[in-house]
Amino acid sequence: MSETRRARPKGTQDFLPPDSARLQHVENLFRHLAERYGYQAIVTPTFEHTEVFVKSSGEGSDIVTKEMYSFKDRGDRDLTLRPEGTPGVVRAVLENRLRLPCRLYYVGPFFRYCRPQKGRFREFYQVGVEALGEASPLVDAEIICFGDDFFQSLGITDCTTRVNSIGCRECRPAHRESLRKFLLERKERLCADCQARLERNPLRVFDCKVETCRLTVQDAPVPRQYLCKACERHHDQVLSALSRRGLLHEANDRLVRGLDYYNRTTFEYVSASLGAQDSLGGGGRYDYLVGDFGGPDTPAVGLAIGLERTMLAAPALPEPQRRHLAFVVWLTPAELRAAEDVADRLRAAGVPAQIDYDSAKVKGQFKSADATRAACCVVIGPDELAKGVYSLKDLVTGEQREIPSDTVTEEVRALFRD
Ligand code: HAM
Repeated sequence: MSETRRARPKGTQDFLPPDSARLQHVENLFRHLAERYGYQAIVTPTFEHTEVFVKSSGEGSDIVTKEMYSFKDRGDRDLTLRPEGTPGVVRAVLENRLRLPCRLYYVGPFFRYCRPQKGRFREFYQVGVEALGEASPLVDAEIICFGDDFFQSLGITDCTTRVNSIGCRECRPAHRESLRKFLLERKERLCADCQARLERNPLRVFDCKVETCRLTVQDAPVPRQYLCKACERHHDQVLSALSRRGLLHEANDRLVRGLDYYNRTTFEYVSASLGAQDSLGGGGRYDYLVGDFGGPDTPAVGLAIGLERTMLAAPALPEPQRRHLAFVVWLTPAELRAAEDVADRLRAAGVPAQIDYDSAKVKGQFKSADATRAACCVVIGPDELAKGVYSLKDLVTGEQREIPSDTVTEEVRALFRD
């Protein structure tokens, strides 16, 4: 058999139990929190027409130039596996003429062709929210607090929230020009990518991880110095709302983020425990994107959070000693029917139950029960059937006793300790 058939593609992961349950737990926590802030779920395709991303994430962005999984389908269409969620959501809102304002959240896999390392994958899971049609700086602040709320609920305490403003179409050209001049004078210190970015989007240089580029931009003019009155007021209101809400944050003049659609507010959550890939999540305002898609002028703001990094940064959840699962054991084929009945009765009452249909021997069934880490076994033999009872075996203590058959749900539940 070929090796590739037995190995997952580079940069992908298998989430195995119990990690798969942890991933679901984190996703569900996000869903509940998003709903608490008024967001509703949206599910968009995992691939879109390539143009959807090229025109939004930005033709000069790393995502578009280096990281997209793009392909032609059999109908010669240019398609791309979604590298991020925002463009697809905007496309869906416009295509389906959703009423604005609307608050949407999503959970799912995303794809970027990058160099895999700790916290960086080619297929990764993101959760995100997008508030379309809301202009107030208080929404920016609320979303920033929402992200922090999510991290707090997972016990992540070493998270720093960085906030900046990169201005608008009014004030950006002046900054861009002065930045371009500054960088042009130091062109030879920039990496080849940044030299190429210089004319098209010099702001990208702030985002470069190459040491010489980072040193070069240390004294470069930053967007903050060029904000127009309206952007400055917006930014001040975001920062004061964050302080009012008690959210510790760090104003960071160089935070521009790697996507082209942002204006005004940009923010990022970083964790000291993550190493090089330290960004847990981020987002910002994108008041022009809906218009760029041909829609009406619509202010918008959102964020996305990477789940692999979140799980790396979160303290491990205490693992339950045993699963909340009752294993129903039958002694002879004559009790199989009764075993099915009690398993269905438990399930209908919300108690997980499982049967090993294949092992004719009781010993084999007990072995299976142990392998699943079930909390208990409900045992049915000819005696139990005749007396209208079950034998309930606690798999933690090993204790076994008879219980009236009509109390099985409560008795099993009482054995689910944690
Ligand atoms: P982003 O900063 O590109 O923003 O991604 C958000 C988060 O996704 C990152 O902070 C990181 O945690 C995670 N992430 C990104 N790439 C990878 C990867 N290769 N492996 C693992 N995790 C990764 C966006 O995607 C924007 N759409 C956010 C947004 C929403 N802005 C407005 N609305």
